[in-house]
Amino acid sequence: MKEQVQKADGKLGILIPGLGAVATTLIAGVEAIKKGLAQPIGSLTQMGNIRLGKRTENRSPLIKEFVPLAELEDIAFGGWDVYDDNVFEAASNAKVLELSLLKAIEPELRALKPMKAVFDKSFVRNLNGKNIKQAATKYLLAQEVIKDIENFRRANRCSRIVMVWCGSTEKYIEPSEVHDSIESFEQALHDNDPRIAPSMIYAYAALKLGVPFANGAPNLTCDIPALIELARETNTPIAGKDFKTGQTLMKTILAPGLYARALGIRGWFSTNILGNRDGLVLDDPDNFKTKEVSKLSVLEEILRPELNPELYGELYHKVRINYYPPHGDNKESWDNIDIFGWLGYSMQIKINFLCRDSILAAPIVLDLALFVDLAKRAGMSGIQEWLSFYFKSPQTAPGLRPEHDIFKQLIKLQNTLRHLMGEDLITHLGLDYYQEFVEAL
Ligand SMILES: NC(=O)c1ccc[n+]([C@@H]2O[C@H](COP(=O)([O-])OP(=O)(O)OC[C@H]3O[C@@H](n4cnc5c(N)ncnc54)[C@H](O)[C@@H]3O)[C@@H](O)[C@H]2O)c1
Repeated sequence: MKEQVQKADGKLGILIPGLGAVATTLIAGVEAIKKGLAQPIGSLTQMGNIRLGKRTENRSPLIKEFVPLAELEDIAFGGWDVYDDNVFEAASNAKVLELSLLKAIEPELRALKPMKAVFDKSFVRNLNGKNIKQAATKYLLAQEVIKDIENFRRANRCSRIVMVWCGSTEKYIEPSEVHDSIESFEQALHDNDPRIAPSMIYAYAALKLGVPFANGAPNLTCDIPALIELARETNTPIAGKDFKTGQTLMKTILAPGLYARALGIRGWFSTNILGNRDGLVLDDPDNFKTKEVSKLSVLEEILRPELNPELYGELYHKVRINYYPPHGDNKESWDNIDIFGWLGYSMQIKINFLCRDSILAAPIVLDLALFVDLAKRAGMSGIQEWLSFYFKSPQTAPGLRPEHDIFKQLIKLQNTLRHLMGEDLITHLGLDYYQEFVEAL
């Protein structure tokens, strides 16, 4: 397999629909890291190690030294937004990073201006930007995005491009017959069908060009048969959906631990307050519904109440998000978890996570961009389940249960990298060499 992975030669273009808090925190962060002003903390591709071979071999290189990934110096950023603020202005408005840090990289950030967005207010009611493409049909809008990608590739001399959706969460929609096949999808683009969301138009344009696409929001986007089929047809990796940060990250760390100890859970109440633009968009019930569906599935999949009715059959799971402007991007979450142990005796766990949403999300965008690019160079296409690690609601092949346990997700990710590079997979069995090792002591 190793010899089939193409090298990461030349420049990688990372194109982002939605240059808001997350995207600008990523872009400013990469510029600051390139200048030696900060460290890429939270990014597995930059700071994570991977064990290779037996424990006795003591081989644990950095992931970026093990697999051929694009270097930060070789990345060119671009994107679209419904507001025409350049990245310096957008990052200043987002108020995630200190102005002194942004000032140190001001020229690089000012040079990045958003391209005109594909936008439909019926999908995100709480936004009023004017930097929007106008065309007679959704099909023509898709052609415009294709042109944008090609122009960007030429202007920045990129040898490869990837796209990561960091746009607002769109209203909740169910898959329907227009999403069933490439033909019905393309017909719907021509017909301006209201069931085609803007995010689907970006994803369609990317996939047509063989550009890998990852979805950071909980919208359906490429999680529909038409775009899964298109991804396979054009040999393009896709991954989604909804970056796993804050509260859900904690949930998928903690729930597997309680499950591992066969402790019961009666209730899990999760509430959040946040005051950024994401919070404003999620204040609309239709947009919140998309997020709620994404957040709710996590516990059921980890705990499998149908297999463990005594422990989890009664589980009451509630998730709330409230828009609270004074907190800005510093989301605060509370979890109250009612658990029970030996003989049914009850206990409680309380978590109060004072997190920074975009600080947790930015390294995920970087890792996803680098990994979907790697996947493309390794000849992998379609749904990249090994990237479930990064998502609240991992996209899987139809009929397969998603894996939410973060530790299993990490093992899968690392084993995929080992497999790509021709290394033995690690089963954590150890019996095959333990005896030999003990006898040699
Ligand atoms: N920050 C996190 O921890 C986190 C976690 C999981 C998911 N997400 C999702 O990531 C996305 C970005 O989050 P954020 O905090 O940066 O939000 P944000 O509101 O700051 O940024 C989103 C940007 O997308 C733009 N936008 C909306 N529709 C667009 C379109 N059709 N085309 C181009 N641009 C468009 C908006 O104008 C805005 O600037 C949201 O969907 C959010 O739900 C964020």
